[in-house]
Amino acid sequence: MTVQRIEVASSTGSYGVLVEQGSLSDLAGRIRGATRASRFLVVSDTRVGRLYGAGLAQQLGAPLLELPEGEQAKNLATLGELVDWLVEQGVERDHGVVAVGGGVVTDIAGFAAAVTLRGLHWVAVPTTLLGMVDAAIGGKTGVDLAAGKNLVGCFWPPELVLVDPEVLATLDRRQLRSGLMEVLKAAIISPFLLEDALDQRFVAMAGGELDGAAQLIEQAVRVKAEVVSADEREEGSRAAMNLGHTLGHALEAATGYRLFLHGEAVGWGLLAALRLARDRGFLATDEAMRWAARMQVLAPFPPVSQVSWDDVLAFLSRDKKRSGGVVRWVLPRPGGVALGVEVSEVEVAGVYRELQALPASGQFTSLF
Ligand SMILES: NC(=O)c1ccc[n+]([C@@H]2O[C@H](COP(=O)([O-])OP(=O)(O)OC[C@H]3O[C@@H](n4cnc5c(N)ncnc54)[C@H](O)[C@@H]3O)[C@@H](O)[C@H]2O)c1
Ligand SMILES: [Zn+2]
Repeated sequence: MTVQRIEVASSTGSYGVLVEQGSLSDLAGRIRGATRASRFLVVSDTRVGRLYGAGLAQQLGAPLLELPEGEQAKNLATLGELVDWLVEQGVERDHGVVAVGGGVVTDIAGFAAAVTLRGLHWVAVPTTLLGMVDAAIGGKTGVDLAAGKNLVGCFWPPELVLVDPEVLATLDRRQLRSGLMEVLKAAIISPFLLEDALDQRFVAMAGGELDGAAQLIEQAVRVKAEVVSADEREEGSRAAMNLGHTLGHALEAATGYRLFLHGEAVGWGLLAALRLARDRGFLATDEAMRWAARMQVLAPFPPVSQVSWDDVLAFLSRDKKRSGGVVRWVLPRPGGVALGVEVSEVEVAGVYRELQALPASGQFTSLF
């Protein structure tokens, strides 16, 4: 069994992301070795707690709290319950939180670790593909408000991230594909690191075949690790990770976070970004089509024909990256991305109409 350790630089020192097949059954030693915490408390959700959280809590001799499942639970009320629980359990400054779950659990438990007693140790054990390659890495923690996603939070990097690709066997296929969209996004951002692994493993993984998944996950982790190491607080280059998210976030918000999984909304956003990049001459048509064809194995996702442009526009204009009538996009270009590209609402509206016109079983390449 090989362990891959990818280092992430952070203002508080560096930490490792360990990718190791089958490691979850024996993580206690690694967790104890990586942090100075004298005691641990495990936080999971009602689904993952039963599957993996309870076993890990037992290994660590730690108490376990299962949060309600899903994005609806990523709010201040749940945070309050979690902090109350930590305090009831007699938490002290040198104790550590171990978050076992998807991005919802690592975001909220990481935030609780940041604010309880002004800062506890914490370790992330992501159990969704999206968590492994994205949410658990980079130290962004927080919760949603009714007014929008991730509006309260802080940077509080974990001391260790433990990835066991074997846990993906129990993950719903649609969730797995949603995570693969972020892997595809990472490949567009850093084709040099990821394109080969993508072409070897992507199609099989989209079909639920997990043999060899570790290699693709490891390369996607390297992309995120490289990006956040260079710009932890998103003062510049970390914005690359927002590729596909300008439209993606607007679609999620416009549909009350119910119609699309995150990766599915990002998929539409990536298609729009590819089309805008082609129209602007950043990418040749055949190059844009190559990415669109790869994305096809993740289809179908819920169509955008049922989401009106007006609804989308209302949320696009609220996007944090917008200023003065134009929205700033991350657009693909050969070998990477261009940041802060100004795109007018009229131009986006035109591309959105094209997305809406794609037939349900249509080929994404027909967009170009
Ligand atoms: N902090 C960051 O930098 C960052 C980056 C990207 C996304 N995020 C956040 O991540 C969240 C989305 O994360 P997600 O997609 O992992 O969703 P999630 O945490 O809601 O998990 C999705 C579902 O899968 C279940 N699940 C998780 N692991 C499983 C497993 N191994 N087997 C069976 N079921 C399993 C969960 O119980 C849940 O029902 C969003 O809130 C988003 O804002 C954060
Ligand atoms: Zn994302």
